[in-house]
Amino acid sequence: MPDGDATLRREAIDVLLGNWEDDDREGGYTVPSRRLYPHQWSWDSAFTAIGWARVAPERARHELESLLDSQWADGRVPQIVFNPSVARDAYFPGPDFWCSREAPGAPERETSGLVQPPLHAVAAWAVHCAEPGLGLPFLRRVYPRLRAQHDYLLRERSDGAGLAVIVHPWESGLDNSPAWDAELARVPVPSGGLPGGHRRRDLDHVAAAERPTVDDYARYIAIAQAYRDHGYRDAVALPALPFVVVDPLFNALLAWAEEALAKIADVLGEPSEPHLHRAAQVRDALLSRSYDPAAGHFFALGRDGERVVEHTVAGLVPLVLDLPDEVADALVRGVTGPRFALSDRVPLPSYDRTSARFDRTRYWRGPAWVNTSWLVLQGLERHGRHTEAATLRAALLATVRRAAFREYFDPVSGLGRGSADFSWSAALSLDLLVGEPTPLPLATVPG
Ligand code: SER
Repeated sequence: MPDGDATLRREAIDVLLGNWEDDDREGGYTVPSRRLYPHQWSWDSAFTAIGWARVAPERARHELESLLDSQWADGRVPQIVFNPSVARDAYFPGPDFWCSREAPGAPERETSGLVQPPLHAVAAWAVHCAEPGLGLPFLRRVYPRLRAQHDYLLRERSDGAGLAVIVHPWESGLDNSPAWDAELARVPVPSGGLPGGHRRRDLDHVAAAERPTVDDYARYIAIAQAYRDHGYRDAVALPALPFVVVDPLFNALLAWAEEALAKIADVLGEPSEPHLHRAAQVRDALLSRSYDPAAGHFFALGRDGERVVEHTVAGLVPLVLDLPDEVADALVRGVTGPRFALSDRVPLPSYDRTSARFDRTRYWRGPAWVNTSWLVLQGLERHGRHTEAATLRAALLATVRRAAFREYFDPVSGLGRGSADFSWSAALSLDLLVGEPTPLPLATVPG
């Protein structure tokens, strides 16, 4: 490993160790960022486990198992698991807002009632592959939980046509994506600011220009409150909630994670066919409803099932799936074309650079993030686009070398934005530094 790579590797490990939280349940987990996000976050832990797997697989197993330890009885894996040792108002909305203990089937630890993109089975497979010689006890423990997670999404969150809905922008992981603007515009901004005299805590740590706006935050809280007031019971909440959408990234990861479950089932001697079947169903539903052949891009679906024509990076992530050649080719043209402008200097922007609403600074409205570029990179590899994948890998590593492990980056200048010492930026850099492909599920899904 060249000297520069060894230094970067050491720095990434130091960030993860600094964010590591020992825990009395399953041994510990990594907070996304010490001050801005001081608890355990769901999809962050999946990305972080993929990085830990490269250097300390035992921590990767703890990371996933401590999250799954707080799975709800209905199968949902919560967006946030709150650390009881952290001040209750260190993060807003914290445990006193979500009141999870009042909801049926919630775990002992307080959590949020939302979910996040289901990358966890993919992470579990990568973690297993890091130390296959250890045998199967880890996979045996997590398999039923991961299956329950997917069952929940396809049962309680079904859109009735083969895809899973999300009920809050936070569930997409791309909170203030322009794809949500039109749906959010229907949610009245509550007068009088945040409910209960609460105060945003994110602005104590990051400049307001880099975070969601005041109005967006007020709407986030109003939607979360509506879900909470329905006891997080989807059957009654979904018809009443103001925000119910289908997200291509969320569903692509669900299909990919079903492929991972097929791999896991296979080594455990369980039937893998049902998982491959489900992966194909979700992929085919995405292809027939979310993919727009004229645009060559996957779009979100609004409440009425209509496509939301906004080119966000989420619409490139289905590249992680087995796709018809013409669809994969169109997505790669999207990656290299003017909207996402692949280069070896900065990772992909989160939003279309050619749009008038492209904002280089504000969270998911333009900035480049390590995790979404890492996902697109996996898709490029899957489709044999090794040259483009190598360019994106070079961009990711050049950016963290230049600007360190920031939460996100200006997609034009490459300057760091958001929190410093961000876990998934460090973890996925560790994965990229290995130089061999990440061991991921690349099953052939029935056509
Ligand atoms: N990303 C959210 C936040 O900014 C939570 O998932 O706090």
